[in-house]
Amino acid sequence: MKYYVGADLGTSSLKLILASREGGVLKTVTKDYAVRYPAPGWSEQMPEDWWREFCAGVRELTDGVDGVCGISVAGQMHGLVILDEADKVIRPAILWNDGRTFRETEYLNTVIGKKRLSDYTANIAFAGFTAPKILWLKNNEPHSFERIAKLMLPKDYINYRLTGVYATEYSDAAGTLLLDVKNKCWSREMLDICCIGEEKTPKLFESYQCIGTVLPDIAKELGLSENVRVIAGAADNAAAAIGTGTVGEGRCNISLGTSGTVLISSESFGVDENNGLHAFCHADGGYYLMGCMLSAASCNKWFCEEILKTEDFGAEQKNITEDMLGNNNVFFLPYLMGERCPVNDTNASGVFIGLRPDSTRADMLLAVLEGVAFAIRDNVEVARSLGINIESSTVCGGGARSELWLKIVSSVLDIELQVPEAEEGPALGAARLAMVGCGEYASVGECAAVEIKKTVKPDKAIAARYEKKYKRFKEIYPNLKMLFKLLAEEN
Ligand code: XUL
Repeated sequence: MKYYVGADLGTSSLKLILASREGGVLKTVTKDYAVRYPAPGWSEQMPEDWWREFCAGVRELTDGVDGVCGISVAGQMHGLVILDEADKVIRPAILWNDGRTFRETEYLNTVIGKKRLSDYTANIAFAGFTAPKILWLKNNEPHSFERIAKLMLPKDYINYRLTGVYATEYSDAAGTLLLDVKNKCWSREMLDICCIGEEKTPKLFESYQCIGTVLPDIAKELGLSENVRVIAGAADNAAAAIGTGTVGEGRCNISLGTSGTVLISSESFGVDENNGLHAFCHADGGYYLMGCMLSAASCNKWFCEEILKTEDFGAEQKNITEDMLGNNNVFFLPYLMGERCPVNDTNASGVFIGLRPDSTRADMLLAVLEGVAFAIRDNVEVARSLGINIESSTVCGGGARSELWLKIVSSVLDIELQVPEAEEGPALGAARLAMVGCGEYASVGECAAVEIKKTVKPDKAIAARYEKKYKRFKEIYPNLKMLFKLLAEEN
């Protein structure tokens, strides 16, 4: 039997799966690593931690397994990893949810201008994107900036260590704001704006293409053959979309992971004229539009672990009864790390509003789950305003394990949600890319079938109540926007 390793280099952990064409997902290994928050709104990780856990994970996953043919990694997007001439990591990676670049983002959007950015890249600047991070480095750590010999995205670092090949692929490159998404090449204008020579950028591949084979000493260390092919891989959201069958024209996937995303696949290039949604390259060779919330399942994790001091999320949710849905007077704004789409505001923060002496722990938890659902609705509304009709969606990520949360999201959006049989969205997508890259399938479309485990339909009565609540939710941010700015200035 031929085996494939699919990995998801996430923010809170690395998930690895062993898969085969015939047997699907055969084994899963998860490895954790830390996120550092060195200042408010900053978030960083050490590339060396990713690599150490990746090696340990692959060894554990493939122990006693003969016949591993291909490896492919899906990764958290937008992170800036920089190496010097000697291939040494210059500083910790700055992650996708890091908001330190607000000045550079503002510079790009106003001085360079949104119109030009969108012409060059199909996108405008958001604080988490890679290009503003490069400018931040130039402005704040010139000694690091000057040492840059190679820049890459998180999963590309794993591929580089595996193969020695300096590569990326279109789905992740699209999130740098350095790629001309329409023409699938680095934007010379954007490289000039960021003062980066093209020789410092990785070679571009399609997600399903082979970039090389595992270096002999690494193969030995991992207990693999030197012939194992490394396939370029994909941005985690693009890979999750493959894992959930969201390829081709007009399909939707919602991810309830650390971040929350609403992704709509498309066969042809298209851009949201207002740039509310990101226009990125898909891992099947096509494109997608996506709205991204910086904090989704992480809000639930934060509230349960940090505030309620419990890790049993399921038990905590049992205190929420069905009659409470849509009748909650407490609201939560889920902007723990600022927010990307649609408000694009690094100053925004998490807020509870509507608390009274009779408000309960369950009301507050429900407000957290609902607040994330309302924020997803904000992005779905942007898509709807573009004439995109979303009648149903697959849903993946840790949050999709909660029946209650699925019911809330389905009713808030008033659409049917389909939960795939396989829970490993991005890692499964990566394994499928490895299969395509090793010739098991002729195309990504051919292998992106999805088995649906359960379908969650909106409850019409609850949906009607949420319709009213959503209108109120929408008023919270505009009313606090100025205050968020003042508070951020005082910090
Ligand atoms: C997407 C984004 C996040 C990360 C999470 O634009 O920033 O979804 O990819 O890993």
